[in-house]
Amino acid sequence: MANRRPVIAGNWKMFKTVSEAEDYAVKFLEEVKAVTDLDIILCAPFTALYPLKNELEESIVHLGAQNMASADQGAFTGEISAQMLLDVACTYVIIGHSERRELFGETDEEIAMKVQKALTSGLTPILCVGENLNVREEGKAAERVQGQVSRALSGLSTEDLSRVIVAYEPIWAIGTGKTASSKDAQEMCASIRATLSDLMGLASERVPILYGGSVKADNIAELMTEPDVDGALVGGASLDPIGFSKLIHNANPLVARVEGI
Ligand code: 13P
Repeated sequence: MANRRPVIAGNWKMFKTVSEAEDYAVKFLEEVKAVTDLDIILCAPFTALYPLKNELEESIVHLGAQNMASADQGAFTGEISAQMLLDVACTYVIIGHSERRELFGETDEEIAMKVQKALTSGLTPILCVGENLNVREEGKAAERVQGQVSRALSGLSTEDLSRVIVAYEPIWAIGTGKTASSKDAQEMCASIRATLSDLMGLASERVPILYGGSVKADNIAELMTEPDVDGALVGGASLDPIGFSKLIHNANPLVARVEGI
């Protein structure tokens, strides 16, 4: 990995009430308070963001949301704006998760608008891309993912692009227990970096690219040894505070290299 700071983000999806989130935060902070060598983000449901703001204040754990609207405000029933997220101390927002694309019909066009709105508002977008099993079996995974990246990000300045995180999440690996091999994850993250390089030149070397899809405490170290995998976006394995902190401790690429994993 070039000089990029690793990022481990948890995506809780539609799990945890306010009291469960508060209880999690207390246990989790105790386990990760000494972590200094990577960025930790918790992407929680909207209702848990405000209580988590209070729990995570002055801690090393950053707060993220799982979606946001591209509009500033208005008659958009059920939507949440960037300003509302900033108001509860969110600094990150997941955009274009495959569940949003597949279950809620989000298009590349909408995703591009959301990325732009996040950036102009001062939030760091975690742009998710990934292919389904059919596309992979047709040998078109790289082409699909490169298309998603360029449609979401083209037109942005190099300065804006430098503030984006990309997460490669193959749909067939999400929640299935079937992780991409570290070689496949590397190949796809490298092809994403090649697309970023077309958009922003050498500055693409500074963009964190995460892998997501059945990441666990026992496979993170191997994934992190790959040069273009800069961290992970973790679903199921982020739901238990002790298990997730173990995953974070195992993610340190230096430790993985020293142990020869
Ligand atoms: P799992 O880690 O549960 O496979 O989910 C991955 C994911 O979708 C994270 O955004």
